[in-house]
Amino acid sequence: MNQQPVATGSARVVRPVQASTGDGPVSGDRFRAVLGHVPTSVAIVAGVVANTARGLSVGTFVPVSLSPPLVGFFVDRASTSWPAIARQGKFAVSVLGAGQAELSRRFAVSQTDKFAGVAWHESPSGHPVIEGSVAWVDCELESETQAGDHVFVLAQVLDLGVETGGTPLLHHRGGYRKAHDLDP
Ligand SMILES: Cc1cc2nc3c(=O)[nH]c(=O)nc-3n(C[C@H](O)[C@H](O)[C@H](O)COP(=O)(O)O)c2cc1C
Repeated sequence: MNQQPVATGSARVVRPVQASTGDGPVSGDRFRAVLGHVPTSVAIVAGVVANTARGLSVGTFVPVSLSPPLVGFFVDRASTSWPAIARQGKFAVSVLGAGQAELSRRFAVSQTDKFAGVAWHESPSGHPVIEGSVAWVDCELESETQAGDHVFVLAQVLDLGVETGGTPLLHHRGGYRKAHDLDP
């Protein structure tokens, strides 16, 4: 691999230089192909907006802080559901179970009636918890921070609970996996 010195003030740092693909070393395809090796959970972020349930799939849901209790996730700035949910200020996050890949796909398609035929019940703050999900978190929006083409959403945990407590759905290298199945 070629190495090329890069001047950074008085220091000189050697960084590897990748063969050019025409898109540079961090093309979108390369970013997805390499970082797809990081397995993620899949969660549905959902709120009731003007009496209509709205939601989207996220693979970036994480616990952030215990004291105070905070969670976070990243939302694409192109999302059409999130701005409407965010305006309400409160929402619920449902962590999907291993048998719920179809719901993950459904909630990833914009401008469709995502909740048609989907069973859910209200969280304590009145937002949708997906039936059959593994666990849920009731949230209040704390902050949104620009992060490139995404927004980092930080939320207070108002309440939370285990739903089925079953095996979670995982996403890895572009496909859905079960916990024992990360070596396709
Ligand atoms: C497994 C999986 C993980 C996803 N993770 C995210 C994510 O973390 N953030 C995000 O904004 N979109 C993510 N998406 C895509 C969104 O679900 C999709 O762009 C969104 O639902 C579009 O619908 P909307 O316009 O109604 O928001 C993911 C999709 C899938 C299938």
